Amino acid sequence: MRVPVALVDAFKDGFEPVLTDFMFQQRLLPEGETLESKRYLSRSIAPHVKALSNLFNRMEGSQTDGIDTEAYWTEGGSAKNRRLAYFLSFMPCNLFRVAAVWSELQRLGFKWPFPADGEFRGLEWGAGLASGACGIMAGEKHAPLGLPARGNFALIEQSKAALQLGKAWFEHFSGPGFDARPFHRRVELGRRWLPEAAPRFHLFVSSYFLNESELQAEVIAANLIETCEHHLEEEGLVILVEPALRLQSRKLLEIRKALIAHPKVISGAVPLQVLLPCLGHQACGALNKEDDWCHEEVNWWRPAYLRELDALAGLDRKSLPFSYLVLQKTRKSREEILPRLQGPSKTRHRLVSPTHSLGKKTWEFFMCGEEGKRRARLSRKAISAGNDEPDRGSILQRATLHGEASLTQIDSTEVLD
Ligand SMILES: C[S@@+](CC[C@H](N)C(=O)[O-])C[C@H]1O[C@@H](n2cnc3c(N)ncnc32)[C@H](O)[C@@H]1O
Repeated sequence: MRVPVALVDAFKDGFEPVLTDFMFQQRLLPEGETLESKRYLSRSIAPHVKALSNLFNRMEGSQTDGIDTEAYWTEGGSAKNRRLAYFLSFMPCNLFRVAAVWSELQRLGFKWPFPADGEFRGLEWGAGLASGACGIMAGEKHAPLGLPARGNFALIEQSKAALQLGKAWFEHFSGPGFDARPFHRRVELGRRWLPEAAPRFHLFVSSYFLNESELQAEVIAANLIETCEHHLEEEGLVILVEPALRLQSRKLLEIRKALIAHPKVISGAVPLQVLLPCLGHQACGALNKEDDWCHEEVNWWRPAYLRELDALAGLDRKSLPFSYLVLQKTRKSREEILPRLQGPSKTRHRLVSPTHSLGKKTWEFFMCGEEGKRRARLSRKAISAGNDEPDRGSILQRATLHGEASLTQIDSTEVLD
């Protein structure tokens, strides 16, 4: 996915001072310590980052559905340092992932569908330290869709300590005009996710949340639809970001499959449309094979302390993989919503793998479109307009093809910048 330079650069120098200010205000750093202290990072933070990374990657056993969240938010022992490790290491990465999805909407011409002088109402599910809500604010700052200057986020989270910190961090990060309302509760994904009396929102966001549930994708999808029916405004958005790991990513693909097959969605009773990353409601190309899945990848400039922390913890988050899904509750056509999409829908494809160079100016990659997933070859001379270096996430449109799904030749195409 191509992310605007302003967003890529935003975290290089500008983020660390904001984070440090917050940590001092909240007395999160021990007396005399700073994020520049290698000793502090290596002794107090890096071991927790390693342990959390193992947990999230399910490295101890095979990947499984569900996760024991108790393992990372429980009080006692070194809970404070574990929370700090999440805050310093995982929160900024998830924040950036969500902001990148926002920027993809901007790239395709999406405009915020509610009045600019109104008040925004967003909600983050499983907010933890509010990475998703902060990601929306960062996305809007560096790739604006036209959000109002005022609003609030409801943060729903089962860990009280994480929620308190998340609320304070969101308000610090977003600055004046926005605040957060914390709701300390466990969302039961097996029924409607909000109580009947809850209001309607313009935006639902979740980041690295759904994979923690052991429920079947069909159950999650049915209750998400129910929740959108009653608590998402008409034209409202749903942004779901999940890990790029095979099982967790496939779970999101299964959720998409169940969403678009649901009678309420098919009949239009709840007009939910998948906007991204797939450019249609076609059967998922990756679900055809058991060992396949679908993910994006974005590059960014990590803050200096995070480069150091990554090195100490044996991680390398120069690029951030993730899976995602953007839905809108709308009756408009995809072309009205994303006006940069041009040409017949069946001539549009998204690259879902890296490109492999086949000699000079010819690439091979996998791409997904209305007719499924195919291995394709493209040479530079077949590109009639747009970017001449396609990569994972690039969109081809007005493409003419010949050949089989196992090897397709692209005769001509535009590459959407
Ligand atoms: C991996 S963390 C992600 C936190 C944050 N969204 C982020 O991207 O950094 C998942 C969060 O979801 C919360 N969570 C998981 N299941 C939940 C549920 N059913 N109800 C409320 N919170 C839940 C966990 O406590 C945890 O804070």
